[in-house]
Amino acid sequence: MSTDPPMTAAQWDARYRAQPDLWTKEPNALLAQFAGELEPGRALDVGAGDGRNAIWLATQGWTVTAIDLSTVALERAAERAAARDARLACIVADWREHDFGESAFELVVVSFMHPQPDERQALFERVARALVPGGHVFTVGVVLADHGRRGPPDAERLYTPERLRHALRGFELLRCEEHTYEQEHSSGRRQVTDVVAVGRRR
Ligand SMILES: C[S@@+](CC[C@H](N)C(=O)[O-])C[C@H]1O[C@@H](n2cnc3c(N)ncnc32)[C@H](O)[C@@H]1O
Repeated sequence: MSTDPPMTAAQWDARYRAQPDLWTKEPNALLAQFAGELEPGRALDVGAGDGRNAIWLATQGWTVTAIDLSTVALERAAERAAARDARLACIVADWREHDFGESAFELVVVSFMHPQPDERQALFERVARALVPGGHVFTVGVVLADHGRRGPPDAERLYTPERLRHALRGFELLRCEEHTYEQEHSSGRRQVTDVVAVGRRR
């Protein structure tokens, strides 16, 4: 059972407004490694935030659509992209209501989005529909074991390889595992673990 209601667009806006550097500006390292080996095409970043992954993909030659609930986040993403001579198509939308289209992308990124468990499956079904056959989904999020240290307050939303494997069962799964690394934090460097998965649309 989920205990915390999802944050609204207004709450996300307030969070971004309060903190100009909410997340790192660097792309996710595993995404950069994975996408760096693909031929650039059309990419969709769902819950793109202030655009670190979307901007990086655009600088690598991808045509990128960034979707997020927060207007403040996407305005920031567009500004940062422009400063790097990169272009993003930004769409302020709730993924639950927005039609991603069909067979429209070669890559979909879902990075540190932690939907409620009963919505996880629906998200990845929409992602699958948005991908061309053979297209890839890259997803990464906070591991359940890090609950209380990072990520949303509701443990049900955090990831384990089993949870992601289940949510991605419609895909050919190329990777699904925990990844531990060191991260800068206000309290100094700390060890954190994510769960990362890559699926291919059959
Ligand atoms: C933790 S941030 C991650 C941002 C970015 N993907 C990254 O890795 O830096 C989660 C983002 O998801 C967005 N988000 C949350 N629920 C959403 C929804 N239902 N539809 C679209 N975006 C959503 C939030 O506004 C926020 O920017």
